[in-house]
Amino acid sequence: MSQYIPSISSDSLYRKVILITGGANGIGACLVKQCLESGANVCIGDLDNISGERLLKKSCEEFRSEEEDMPPRAVFQTTDVTNYPSVLALFDLAFKTYKRIDHVVSAAGIVEIGNWFDFGLTLEEVRQTPTHKVLDVNLLGSMYVSRIASVYLRHNRGGNCDRSILLFSCVSGFKESPSLFIYQASKHGVTGLMRSLRNYISSPYKHSLRINTICPWMTQTESIKKVEAQWKNADLPTNTPDEVSMVATGVLSDKSLNGTSMFVEGGRAWEIEQNIDRLESEWLGEAPSKVLGLGQQLLADGAIWTTPERARKRSSVSCGIPPGVPLHKLNGLSNSLKNGISNGANNSKANGIAEKLPNRLANGMTHGVTNGVH
Ligand SMILES: NC(=O)c1ccc[n+]([C@@H]2O[C@H](COP(=O)([O-])OP(=O)(O)OC[C@H]3O[C@@H](n4cnc5c(N)ncnc54)[C@H](O)[C@@H]3O)[C@@H](O)[C@H]2O)c1
Repeated sequence: MSQYIPSISSDSLYRKVILITGGANGIGACLVKQCLESGANVCIGDLDNISGERLLKKSCEEFRSEEEDMPPRAVFQTTDVTNYPSVLALFDLAFKTYKRIDHVVSAAGIVEIGNWFDFGLTLEEVRQTPTHKVLDVNLLGSMYVSRIASVYLRHNRGGNCDRSILLFSCVSGFKESPSLFIYQASKHGVTGLMRSLRNYISSPYKHSLRINTICPWMTQTESIKKVEAQWKNADLPTNTPDEVSMVATGVLSDKSLNGTSMFVEGGRAWEIEQNIDRLESEWLGEAPSKVLGLGQQLLADGAIWTTPERARKRSSVSCGIPPGVPLHKLNGLSNSLKNGISNGANNSKANGIAEKLPNRLANGMTHGVTNGVH
């Protein structure tokens, strides 16, 4: 079973600084409230300035700073996640106000607009460039937020301080969703972004950040108005936005979680990444799974794609992680690493690296998930 039951200790988010895009409404707004209730300071960015200002006023009335000379518990700035300078300005506001940022949540999102693949499209109509706003808000916005977060989260950071990025994908990020063509592509993109970053960004020799995704199913917000009645009539499960944001709060506050995707249905959460990995030889077949594993080992942390040829020749161990050891697989390999067996890295280096890995990485994602999974 891979059920994830969030457990949020009273001090895990206390005085943390959490930046949330799409925080003015729906799930994001519930998350703002839960973070404030947990003692965190929140920087809210949203395109909807009316709801944003209203939420800010309410939050500041309800949650006051402990001392007069301390900054307000919440700040809001009108933000368009599709506009890079606008996202930067939001991070600047958080940093200026609180002097650091601990966690970043990318919750801004919109649903399908129109029908790109309308069967009735004529030769004339197809000449018009279709809107790509859904892709821009959901995917490009998440990419902008993640990129800027990867830099800001590293600053003013005490030793051993947990920092993370949380992206909002969807059930459409892993399961077929008919007619949500662009939305589904964007949410697969968000899940893909998390998967491509989870080993790289968590490396203690790089950003040392956690990254996870939430994949809600039907949740009672504006987003599902079109299908809500039919869904209820069929007696299918829905989440309240509070239930989804509770899972998000749990993931933010659990230092052991990296590289997870939490599917949320009927208020329950299920981690899916671990089983996708674990059962690969069943759904893909043993032979292709094996050869795929060898390819993955060769590509390792992927530095081969991004490191210039000359720099690669200079250093055989490009990022401090031995070639051939994907971080989220370190659980199975950490012992052999500690014994100096390192798939091509020289043994003394591998020994040193294994010793230096923090527990959450040395134990890998699997350990992280089983801690919170029941
Ligand atoms: N409600 C669901 O059933 C459901 C299911 C799966 C995934 N999700 C995802 O969860 C997240 C939150 O969804 P929700 O249901 O709370 O939606 P919502 O519409 O209630 O809230 C989304 C927020 O994003 C903001 N936003 C939209 N475009 C923006 C932009 N360009 N820049 C900044 N902010 C922008 C909106 O103003 C709004 O406040 C989204 O990423 C959504 O795709 C929701």
